[in-house]
Amino acid sequence: MGLRDDVARVLIPEDELQARVADLGQAINETYTDEDCPLLVCVLKGAFVFLADLTRHLKVRHEVDFMEISSYGAGTKSTGVVRILLDLEQSIEGRHVLIVEDIVDSGRTLAYMRRNLQTRGPASLRVCALLSKPSRREVDVTLDWVGFEVPNEFVVGYGLDYAEEYRNLSFIGVLKKEVYAQGD
Ligand code: IMP
Ligand code: MG
Repeated sequence: MGLRDDVARVLIPEDELQARVADLGQAINETYTDEDCPLLVCVLKGAFVFLADLTRHLKVRHEVDFMEISSYGAGTKSTGVVRILLDLEQSIEGRHVLIVEDIVDSGRTLAYMRRNLQTRGPASLRVCALLSKPSRREVDVTLDWVGFEVPNEFVVGYGLDYAEEYRNLSFIGVLKKEVYAQGD
């Protein structure tokens, strides 16, 4: 009974996710120094689980901050509209900024964020995305680190939602057709 029954297929199991997140953490440790003290910008809401696990693999000094961007309604199709719902608490001028994103789909959200944050004068701006759907890209965006490439399917779990649910699943999965059909 419950959320798990709505899952048709597990795409990335928990152990593979955890191993990859550890690798990404290692790569970040090797890229920055304590003096850089990078600011991890978590893109809410989808990236909160990824950020929580990633940050615990970091040995390098760092800080976290949050931004909420909206590009989707309750369904699975992009509206093409990008808005800032919550902005950073702090200035990033002269800071080494690392955007932590759940999934890059059309690339619109990230392209907007990159442009927006770049105007604030960071010392560097990089992106770490857990998932990427290259086949869906409409805007070319540079990703410094990607956890996994996924096929053109709507995925949930590990922070990613469908209509605000399923974020708590510890794996990345695809829902049964009839579940999506109800919302669209
Ligand atoms: P983009 O602007 O089209 O790249 O969309 C990026 C945002 O849409 C992501 O940060 C997610 O919040 C959401 N999104 C895109 N694809 C999926 C998916 O398969 N599952 C859940 N959310 C998704
Ligand atoms: Mg997102």
